[in-house]
Formats: sequence, structure tokens, C-alpha cells
Amino acid sequence: MVTAGATGEVALTENPTAVGPTTRQRVFSGIQPSGNFHLGNYLGAIRNWVDQQADFDNIFCIVDLHALSLPTTRESLRANILGLANVLLASGLDPSQSIIFVQSDVREHTELCWLLSSVTQYGELRRMTQFKDKAGGKGEQVSAALLFYPVLQAADILLYDTNRVPVGEDQKQHIELTRDIGARFNARYGNTFVLPQPDIKTAGARVMSLEDPTRKMSKSDANPNATIALTDDADTIRRKIRRAVTDSGSEVLASPDKPALTNLLTMYSLLNGEPISVIEDRYVGKGYGAFKSDLAEVVVLSLAPIQSRLADLNANPEVARAILAEGAERARSRAVMKMSEVRDRMGVGPGWRPGALTKDDGLVHGERRD
Ligand code: AMP
Ligand code: TRP
Repeated sequence: MVTAGATGEVALTENPTAVGPTTRQRVFSGIQPSGNFHLGNYLGAIRNWVDQQADFDNIFCIVDLHALSLPTTRESLRANILGLANVLLASGLDPSQSIIFVQSDVREHTELCWLLSSVTQYGELRRMTQFKDKAGGKGEQVSAALLFYPVLQAADILLYDTNRVPVGEDQKQHIELTRDIGARFNARYGNTFVLPQPDIKTAGARVMSLEDPTRKMSKSDANPNATIALTDDADTIRRKIRRAVTDSGSEVLASPDKPALTNLLTMYSLLNGEPISVIEDRYVGKGYGAFKSDLAEVVVLSLAPIQSRLADLNANPEVARAILAEGAERARSRAVMKMSEVRDRMGVGPGWRPGALTKDDGLVHGERRD
């Protein structure tokens, strides 16, 4: 059973899957439409979204405004949004179970971002690891959006009374900051926001680069051999895995002194479902070559059905467009309600007008817009 408290906070008892749609926990996650979607994104995030979508009330957001924090162009952003929507659908996100939408279609995200910035400390933003990594070496030249990025992310999450945020390990700090921002707002203005939990799986949360197992596989890696893109064809996948960095020695083992093999074994295990120990046993005495060529086939076979659905979706862009338009409507109707509550709490918006009905006004905004 799940019961919702006054703040929308959900108390979970026992089995979260055994309850009706209105009482399911809310899941929200986002992904940037930038660069090439890779195996780390799939194993660390999307696959988990797909696997558990029947259990929750889900919202998945293509965060185009976040992608503006690094230089981009109109054409590539447009193409990446549709391309990513197709990847999400091809990977198994189902619009009958999940809202899928584009962040900039729901303007409440940017409004809430500004309002939350008033309860966010500059020092908190400056200390974020992702900011330090992405701003590293560029000094004062980086966009202010890169600094503000986690405030917009907090707005994404808090706007929908989110309970769980399924992400890869790299986003943990941003979810913790979201909780701090929400808690500070609640303390100052009264209970308004649900404080979300990060949902990070132990396996796959950090898929590492094929070229350097001390760095995570990343969309922004300049070296294409470091990542396996979801769109790589079979021969490219085989070539990249064959040339992937390995550790000294020749035993196929996952251990702290074998970070490269640990990464490759994790991929193998997550994709074919066997425990790592079973895979290790199979390759005793066989060396890296045999293991890598089998791993390549596991990756090729796992991606094949996704790639074939992706080809169909890419050939019919109107399918994703219709799903995103409907998703935006559904997300907006929730966001509009929440924002009218937030404005009212903070004393902004039309509440100062004589006889103003703040809740109605929120709805008027929503209807007037499009
Ligand atoms: P991004 O590529 O930064 O837009 O991330 C989208 C989602 O994929 C987030 O939930 C990330 O935490 C996750 N993710 C990104 N890179 C990796 C990786 N190398 N391993 C596991 N998860 C990842
Ligand atoms: N910052 C996330 C990333 O780079 C993307 C993101 C934006 C997000 N808003 C979000 C993730 C809200 C979870 C919830 O991966």
C-alpha cells in the first residue's frame, strides 16, 4: 500500500507494484539531446527506466534547455531531440506507461528554475563536480548556464512531486542538491515539494571508456573509439571491442586491479544476464581475445532489435512527434497546477490583486498559452 501525505510525500509499505495507477510512486528522469547516445546511457539509465516503467508513474524528459549549456546549433539541437526521442522509443519506453516530452515545451521548468535560484547558494553550484569538470580550464569563458544547470535540474524534478530519480552514478550529487534546495524551500515557505531519492543501480551505474577505464564513457569524448554508440553497426562494434584497452596479465577476471576487464565483464553480464562469476569461469585459460570476440557478439545481438526499431522510427518521424506533443500536454497540465501553488507560497504572481484566485489563475495561464 502507498499513501500520499499532505505534501504529496508518499509513504511506501511493502509492494510498490501491487497498487493502482493513482498511488504509484512518481519517477522522473532526464537526458540531454546532445551527441551520440551510448552504451553507458543505455545500461546506466534507459534500460532501468524501461525495466521498471510498469511499476511507477513515469515522466521522462528530453532536456533540450540543459543541452544549451554547451555550444550547440539550432539544426543539431532539433535533429538531436528527434533522434533521442526515437532512441528512447526504440529502447522500449512506452507512451502508454510513461510521459515522454521535451523540456522546453513546458515553460514552467524555466520559471521554477528562477524561483528556486533564490534558495540555492552560489557556493553550492560552484562546487558541483560536473561544473568543475565541464568548466575545467575554460576559466571565465564558460556559460553561466553551465553553473545554473543543477538549478534547472532541481526544477525539473521538484515540479512533478517526484519520489524517485533513476540515473547513473554521475548524477547523484545533483539529486542531493535537489533535495537540499527542496528542503530549504519547504523550510522557508512551508511544505511544498516532495524530496526525491536517487535511484542508482549498483551494476551499470558507471560504464567506463573503452580507451581509458578510469574515465566514464561519455557523449562528449572526442575519441569515437572510447564509446559504443547505440547506432554503431556490427563491424564497428567488433572493431571497437577488439581494440579496447585491457589490463596486464591474461586472465578474464573482475577485480580492483583489473579495471578494464571489470568494465568489459560488467557489460557482458548486464547484456546477457549471466553473473560475472559464471562468465569468468567460462574463460579460464582462454585469454582476452576469445572473451572480447564473444563480448562483441553479445553487444551486437543485444543492440540489433533496438537498432531495427530505431531504423523504422527514423523513417517515420511523425510517430515521435505525435508522442512528444501528447507528452507535453500531459506534463504541462501537472506543471501548471504545481506552479500556481509555488507562486502562491512565494508571494509572486497575481495573488496581490484584489479578489485574485491564484489557483484559477494558474489554469488560465495554461489555457492561454498555446
Ligand atoms: P547524459 O549522457 O549526461 O545526458 O546522461 C544521461 C543518463 O545516462 C544519466 O542518467 C547519466 O547518469 C547516465 N550515464 C551517462 N554516462 C554514463 C556512463 N558512462 N555509465 C552509466 N550511466 C551513464
Ligand atoms: N543532468 C542530467 C544528465 O546530465 C540530465 C537531467 C536533466 C536530469 N534534468 C534531469 C536527470 C532531471 C534526472 C532528473 O544526465
